[in-house]
Amino acid sequence: MKSAIYPGSFDPVTFGHLDVIKRTANIFDELTVSVLDNHLKTPLFSVEERVKILQEATKDIPNVKIDSFKGLLIDYAKKKGVHVAVRGLRAITDFEYELQIAQTNHKLSGGELDTMFLTTSLEYAYLSSSSVKEIASFNGDISMCVPEFIAKLVYEKYGF
Ligand code: PNS
Repeated sequence: MKSAIYPGSFDPVTFGHLDVIKRTANIFDELTVSVLDNHLKTPLFSVEERVKILQEATKDIPNVKIDSFKGLLIDYAKKKGVHVAVRGLRAITDFEYELQIAQTNHKLSGGELDTMFLTTSLEYAYLSSSSVKEIASFNGDISMCVPEFIAKLVYEKYGF
């Protein structure tokens, strides 16, 4: 069985992430989307909230599982027995950052973990969780960025 992990912050998951999830789920037998529990960041949504949101947003894709992890991706992947991490690429700026992480993970894992990149569909190339939060914090329109139920939850966090 071919499995992959799609790690990320997903704070919150956007249409761009969901596009990568759907396309990756078509390539692999099983995809685990895993939320990083990162002590270095103060997220808008807790890990538990992000996991629940992702579960709801992917409930119609049978081969997608949602999980969370702490620490290094290579250790988590090893524990799960998975050798492929998937990431989406929007632009050259993403590429530079992602290339470095992918190469670090490959080296650190002794060649056990490879990273595969999917280029984000053009209609979502401008999307980021950070801009979703910034727009929502000013009560701007985020309907083109996230599903409706997520937009509601984001606005609630900002008191709208
Ligand atoms: O959605 P993000 O915040 O861009 O995702 C980044 C993520 C979660 C893929 C990356 O930060 C990660 O894997 N962090 C776990 C720690 C780790 O393994 N770092 C790699 C060595 S630099």
